[in-house]
Amino acid sequence: MEFYDFEWRLNRSLNAKLAELQRNERLRHVIFSAQFNRELLNHLGTIADMIRQFHKSRKGRRFLGGLLRNQRAMLYFTQPSTRTFLSFTAACQMLGIACNEVRDPSVSSEAKGESPFDSIRMFSSYFDIIIMRSVVPNFAECCAYLMNELDEKDHRSVPIINAGSGADEHPTQALLDVYTIKRTFQFKDPKDSSRWNRLDELRRKYPDLTKSLDGKLYGFCGDIGRGRTVRSLASLLSLFRDVSICFISPPHPKMRLSPDLRERLIKRRVKIYEIESFEDTIEGKPAIEAVDCLYMTRIQREHDTTEDLQAYQGFDLSKYCLSRELVARMKDYAPILHPFPRDSRIGEIPNDIDSDPRAVYFHQARNGMWIRAALLAYLFDVDQRIASRFQKDFAEYHDYNIGVL
Ligand code: CP
Repeated sequence: MEFYDFEWRLNRSLNAKLAELQRNERLRHVIFSAQFNRELLNHLGTIADMIRQFHKSRKGRRFLGGLLRNQRAMLYFTQPSTRTFLSFTAACQMLGIACNEVRDPSVSSEAKGESPFDSIRMFSSYFDIIIMRSVVPNFAECCAYLMNELDEKDHRSVPIINAGSGADEHPTQALLDVYTIKRTFQFKDPKDSSRWNRLDELRRKYPDLTKSLDGKLYGFCGDIGRGRTVRSLASLLSLFRDVSICFISPPHPKMRLSPDLRERLIKRRVKIYEIESFEDTIEGKPAIEAVDCLYMTRIQREHDTTEDLQAYQGFDLSKYCLSRELVARMKDYAPILHPFPRDSRIGEIPNDIDSDPRAVYFHQARNGMWIRAALLAYLFDVDQRIASRFQKDFAEYHDYNIGVL
């Protein structure tokens, strides 16, 4: 198998592809963030919350660890990763899934000329799921089609999870981002009581504030065009009502919003602002003061060509960095997210912002473990076991509406 074998499939519209990535009304492979709807996002968030709760006790951890004890996962990460690789590993271990990895193809038989598609087929012979990251765009998508072809011929076939693919998609990052935003917009505070709670306090200053992701203005800042996390998250946010998104990026076509994402968001009735600075105004207010949530990103220097470097010489990249002064002007409740890694050479988020209560990026990274565990539980069809056991053990303390998905 080679890439050209999949060409006609790759060239179809996104909508035409989605059905092929499902089986029996459930996701089989996870390749695009567009595969998730609001119902599934809610479901995975609820399962993630339940897993967190079980994980607090030894008995709960034993229950989780017994769920998928006989399953095995291959983590095939040929592009560097800290968070995605380790949080998937931790999530697998939590559910009892044994993990193995190939991170450097020079120590696998690819060094002897084996094609990456043969490697994937080999992994599917030994493992029950393949979680993969590659610098090659669409590779994970092609691997999903390969698995479907094997399935049609009654050969062994396993689910594929895209853990970051070229500059196009990082769907599980978008899952953890939405999960983090949802949790942050609960506006919970340890000091909440019957006489005082944080949300009521915030509403004195922001009377229209709600817990919903609907109706909010989301800011994305940095390398918008080359950031796969931006593409995946912006697509998911478009599932919510009356959403506005402002993209703050250097004025270069590679770093600005890409035409296809712009078109997709407009089709979904997202109001878009494309600006070059935190000081540019949105409906009369500087962007930094207007956003309800700010998603910072790294300038992806590793993709620069010699021409890019020349073009960027005139740019003041410090305009795409936060400072304490800027954060002081943000709304009191607006969370600051970053998919990480942040670039310490450019300093888009200086360390002195880490202690601000709005800086949620370390929680965001940990949330990756819970939501990825929930996703694995869903893909292996043990999510309802988690929900049933939770209802039995904790129903009196929680009011989750446990639907069937
Ligand atoms: N956010 C993210 O994908 O981080 P890693 O590259 O460390 O996996």
